[in-house]
Amino acid sequence: MDKDRFLWGSATAAYQCEGAWSEDGKGMGEWDTFCHSEKNNVNPVTGDVSCDHYHRYEEDIRMMAEGNQNTYRFSIAWSRIIPDGTGAVNQKGIDHYNKVIDTCLNYNIVPNATLFHYDLPDALAKKGGWENRGTVDAYAAYAKACFEAFGDRVPLWTTVNEPSYYTHCAYAAGNYPPNIQNFSRRSRAAYYLLLASARAVAAYHEKKYAGQIGLVHDAYPIETEENDEANRKAGYNAELFFNKWVTDCCLKGFFSDDLIEKLIECDIDLSFREKGDDLIFHKGTVDFLGLNIYDRQYVKPYQGGKTEIRMNNRGKDNKVRAGMRIRNWFETAYDENVQKNEWGMEIYPKCIYNELTEIKRQYGDIPLYITENGVGLYESPDRTGTVQDDARIAYLSGCIDYMLKAKEEGVNVRGYYVWSSLDLYSWINGYEKRYGLVYVDYDNGNGRVPKKSYYWYRDLIEKYSNHNEEE
Ligand code: BG6
Repeated sequence: MDKDRFLWGSATAAYQCEGAWSEDGKGMGEWDTFCHSEKNNVNPVTGDVSCDHYHRYEEDIRMMAEGNQNTYRFSIAWSRIIPDGTGAVNQKGIDHYNKVIDTCLNYNIVPNATLFHYDLPDALAKKGGWENRGTVDAYAAYAKACFEAFGDRVPLWTTVNEPSYYTHCAYAAGNYPPNIQNFSRRSRAAYYLLLASARAVAAYHEKKYAGQIGLVHDAYPIETEENDEANRKAGYNAELFFNKWVTDCCLKGFFSDDLIEKLIECDIDLSFREKGDDLIFHKGTVDFLGLNIYDRQYVKPYQGGKTEIRMNNRGKDNKVRAGMRIRNWFETAYDENVQKNEWGMEIYPKCIYNELTEIKRQYGDIPLYITENGVGLYESPDRTGTVQDDARIAYLSGCIDYMLKAKEEGVNVRGYYVWSSLDLYSWINGYEKRYGLVYVDYDNGNGRVPKKSYYWYRDLIEKYSNHNEEE
């Protein structure tokens, strides 16, 4: 991989697009079980078929290449590689990802592989999932199997996608499996995820593979409603809550004293920490940080009162306003001047610039990738069969301009991925919330139709590359 070439691409995750849920020896995943159960009662659909990327990966990757994209971020389904979470490796799973990786390379697309993107093997979920320290060992063995199989050709690895947002949904909001609402349990699960990530990083480095390994964090710049002392305090609490515990851990190799103090003050049970973990975190700092940036967190103080998390998984039919109140930390503030999408996400492109410059301020010149950026919309083709997603183009273009501004000012950002390569299963939001550069016609054989944004992105990449070659 040419380290100086800026990477432009798009991203997906296994459960969201592959389908083929029980093919070629794949084990049950936690999401298979959840989607097949009555617990999935918000938008009750499954990823059983999804956009069938498992069978159509060649067509999809070709489309990326034809759209001038030079990198593809995808995730590997643990339950395809080690169907029961621990034990024997499933050769057919290895064969599948070999084909995906080789197809990328044939099209001059840099493969960027994520080891864990929310989809825990169900056998491990049944034994306590990420609340069980044993899952860390299982993950380390799985990561090792992936490095051995694919490490010769994958130059960019991600250990874990979004330890913060994933555990927020799974263990605090409780809208993702295992549907728990308990902050102590969330802290335990998050800690083990970070420990697992650090183990994988250390193992990768020990074997001296040629590529780079990082973690992907759902990063938010924090802004406060007012600028008084109480707001500044709430802002710092939000920074600890959303960002610092992940970024300090994977970039510095330890948790800040401020965070530990705050957790203790809030009666979070930290008894899961063990002697020896510190060394693992210390040895497990990443080569790069991936940032999934969609919007900012706009907050104000919140003392006393009940903790309350309100998610919007119903889009335009949602009755409550998305947001949260975290007792003694902060609460969501609402800026009526900022436009939102139907799921309550702020259309706020400056978030990219603010977060990139903030990371540089706190952590220096660490290589950064925007590993996800996008906007969910309701969409359908017009009479000519075209999806005129001008709102997506406007948002992405604003975000990219802000990213390039940060880059020009010296932030070490090396690549950018649109979420998502094509429409896919948007977790419990179902299929109606679309993010893709390519429209998927779920009702008609999963046909692919590049949207207006696909062509816009293709031309933007070309323009950027020509301009940079001329310089
Ligand atoms: C990121 C995830 O948090 O956001 C993706 O990594 C996800 O998997 C994306 O799909 C958009 O979120 P959502 O919930 O709207 O699909």
